[in-house]
Amino acid sequence: MSQDQQKQRAAAAALEYIQPGTIIGVGTGSTVNFFIDALAGMPSRIAGAVSSSEASSRRLAGHGIPVLDLNSVAGLEVYVDGADEATRGMHLIKGGGAALTREKIVAAAARTFVCIVDEAKLVERLGKFPLPVEVIPMARAYVARELARLGGQPVWRQGTVTDNGCDILDVRGLDIVDPVGLERAINQIPGVVTNGLFAQRGADVLVIGTDAGVQTLRPSGH
Ligand code: A5P
Repeated sequence: MSQDQQKQRAAAAALEYIQPGTIIGVGTGSTVNFFIDALAGMPSRIAGAVSSSEASSRRLAGHGIPVLDLNSVAGLEVYVDGADEATRGMHLIKGGGAALTREKIVAAAARTFVCIVDEAKLVERLGKFPLPVEVIPMARAYVARELARLGGQPVWRQGTVTDNGCDILDVRGLDIVDPVGLERAINQIPGVVTNGLFAQRGADVLVIGTDAGVQTLRPSGH
């Protein structure tokens, strides 16, 4: 089975968390694209979606699903999004698609974050995937020096401008033993908008598409 088929499996399984008639949060990426397409096929539709990127908004609208402004909704029951890396402890690296800031905002506004991934995303320790950090353009070089002080090797993702008009630094060489502490430390650097560690608020449910079927993980004790 291909990686895309595993993504599609996870995406289809996430439909069980969706109540018809509600407003949900929708993330960004190839796995979420499968989810949006699956949503469009639900017999009873959702009322609308708050989207984490222009790309997802376009795809939702293309299926006739109303796209709403986060400011116009009181809160979201569910947010569905992919990840670049995920641990069994529900910590994530996100931002491979440069949508990390809006993703973190919509995830924060949702009661339940359902993360959908293919098997290859599951890791013992985060950091092999370069950690994306969104920065205010004028602060790029300064933030890069500070990230190097934290032990990483930041590389400017040239040619990418985020939906917020900012730059992305991809930080290589991090062996992330304390995701919560590192997320906090990077956010303290002036000029950082967000970093791609979703650890302080990780996923609530991890839905993994595998060749054998779908595996669902929840934090221990839940
Ligand atoms: C977007 O910025 C990312 O956080 C995506 O959620 C992540 O890159 C997963 O993408 P795929 O579903 O395409 O692997």
